[in-house]
Amino acid sequence: MSRAAPAPVAPYASLAPVYDRLVGDARFELIWEAFRRSCRHHRIGFRSLADIGCGTGRFLHRLSRNPALRLCGVDRSAAMLRVARRRLAGRGVRLLRQDMTRLALPEPADLLTANFCTLNYLTEPAALALALRALAANSHCNGYLIFDIILGGTTGRTPSAVRQLIEAPALHAVWDIRPAPRFEGTIVSTFTCLHGTRGSNCAQEVHLQRWWPAATLLPALARAGFRVLGLHRLADHAPPGPGDRWVQVVARRG
Ligand SMILES: C[S@@+](CC[C@H](N)C(=O)[O-])C[C@H]1O[C@@H](n2cnc3c(N)ncnc32)[C@H](O)[C@@H]1O
Repeated sequence: MSRAAPAPVAPYASLAPVYDRLVGDARFELIWEAFRRSCRHHRIGFRSLADIGCGTGRFLHRLSRNPALRLCGVDRSAAMLRVARRRLAGRGVRLLRQDMTRLALPEPADLLTANFCTLNYLTEPAALALALRALAANSHCNGYLIFDIILGGTTGRTPSAVRQLIEAPALHAVWDIRPAPRFEGTIVSTFTCLHGTRGSNCAQEVHLQRWWPAATLLPALARAGFRVLGLHRLADHAPPGPGDRWVQVVARRG
């Protein structure tokens, strides 16, 4: 008799312990270099920074080498924050469990960041508008916002169905990536099994991401009170061409 598949758990609830090993580590240096390049290029100085969708805290960990910075991380996933809390123990970084559409920082920040396509998790226009307004409300007047995002509406390749099989020590995973049904974007169903001394722990997650066209995103930023200073291809800081999807946006409030 076949058993019914278990109901999906919340995004990152089961992936958090292996997130860095499977995706976070591989992308980190690229995102870090793009961040440093934009800080230099736009002459962005800051004493306080809040990383929205901070995940496992890798970016904050690198920033915390500078003890003069006031750092805060926000994420809606309790499991990701557990990993971040361990990584950042003793480093004076404040971690908050919040949804970015209702962001409420203890104090406004000089610079807000949202790395590795966190804003693609906003899949409805109302949620995008709420989140951008919340980001503006939690940054200083003239504060900066830097985030990377996958854009829709480009001439780049549209997503096709892909199955990834992942085998690693103490880990077996099957990830199905398909085009999202209602809008341009992806729906990723992950089935991940972690094998430990007390047996195997398997869980399914569903990740829905929307690829916002620049023609929607840029006016939404303006309505929230952000002025866009730059749009850069993440890989090399060049101006994005019509087929480029993964870009970094640098904006300033006011
Ligand atoms: C792709 S991960 C990126 C994590 C981290 N920024 C990095 O660079 O590795 C996206 C993160 O955004 C968080 N996230 C997604 N939607 C969110 C929301 N509405 N509010 C707060 N966090 C959110 C997820 O829980 C996850 O940790």
